[in-house]
Amino acid sequence: MNPTPTRSLSDDLREAAIACRQSTLALYEGIDATTFCQQAHPEFSPVGWHLGHIAFIEACWILEGCAGQTPLFPQYRKLFAADALPKAQRQNLPDLPIILDYLHTVRSRVLDYLETAAIVPEERLWRWLIQHESQHAEIITFILQLHRTRKADLPAPPVSRSAVVTETIAIPAGEFNLGWDAIEAQDHERPSRRLHLDSFEIDRYPVTCAQYWYFIEAGGYRERKWWSEAGWQWLQANPVDRPLYAADGDDCPVCGVSAYEAEAYANFVGKRLPTEAEWEKAASWDAALSKKSPYPWGTAPPDAGTCNHNGRSGRTTPVSAYPQGKSPYGCEDMLGNVWEWTASTFAGYTGFKFYPYRGYSEVYFDGEHRVLRGGSWATRPWALRSSFRNWYHPSVRQILAGFRCAR
Ligand code: AVJ
Ligand code: FE
Repeated sequence: MNPTPTRSLSDDLREAAIACRQSTLALYEGIDATTFCQQAHPEFSPVGWHLGHIAFIEACWILEGCAGQTPLFPQYRKLFAADALPKAQRQNLPDLPIILDYLHTVRSRVLDYLETAAIVPEERLWRWLIQHESQHAEIITFILQLHRTRKADLPAPPVSRSAVVTETIAIPAGEFNLGWDAIEAQDHERPSRRLHLDSFEIDRYPVTCAQYWYFIEAGGYRERKWWSEAGWQWLQANPVDRPLYAADGDDCPVCGVSAYEAEAYANFVGKRLPTEAEWEKAASWDAALSKKSPYPWGTAPPDAGTCNHNGRSGRTTPVSAYPQGKSPYGCEDMLGNVWEWTASTFAGYTGFKFYPYRGYSEVYFDGEHRVLRGGSWATRPWALRSSFRNWYHPSVRQILAGFRCAR
């Protein structure tokens, strides 16, 4: 029998980069010119800009940074660098075929370099790059959804309302490992450390549309007492009365709410949002084995049986649809489906060192950004794990975010 050929690190990286790119490009199939270059919302760049930015970052870090090549398309820096133009001035874009050509030209040189370079010392950068594209692919996905949402009517309520307070899981007091140091870990996940948490309870599932609509119809958006000071101020300035996105089903998680709305709901049911440390312990800690795993179900990469991710379904799924994906404590739907708002302000862990550049995470340690955990139905597998931190201002509703409660 022939021995199984050993897969090299560069085989691994090439396959991931190609798979990630395929799923990025699939988002642009049949796109019209307006959707390509117009902003769907002032907070977000046009989807065409994101595509050029993906190529720019790859060229910048691999071709220029690692391979020492001179910029192939120097004219694109002022258009596609994240700190170049204000978002409102990113609508004057080359057409899709031109950006595709940019992307393909950069990529073919990158793959050439991958054939010959000493990749081992650069592994962290390559893994980061694939996650960078993954994050933009998710942003592109919800911007495309926003373009459709703008044309649609206000989201209709689900069929049923449910006052049923969801099942909670008791997490005993004790230590666990917060964070992740593996080669794919982002700067904001490192360094990991032991952390003691007091006992708490956390919901088995994210809050569903039926549950959230019970809050709406009980006058939740009109009752000052459920809202934080900042939340109430936000609501007066932005008078909304329901989530941004329509329910995909009564038992699907609510999606398209700000952290302020999540907090108001939690107060309404006598609970609160979990801290990010509580969330991560509930998702990743096996107390019996005193062991942390990257995924609630263990170490196998996410697949179609463990969670709703990778844009496959194009929608949220019922919160109990992935029993195989449950954590050792029994929490379900922790990864995929919707991002979950936490009570935690985004900050660097003790001993934080930026990677690969200060502007990636560190500039957001400004006390203004809130941590979300868990990933959504649009999150690519490379950016999906229990320790992965996402962050937005608590007022943002355009992302694919819901929440679960704790107490
Ligand atoms: C973590 C999603 C807030 O969109 O600015 C992409 C991800 N960072 N390119 C963002 C990111 C650099 C980031 N978020
Ligand atoms: Fe970026």
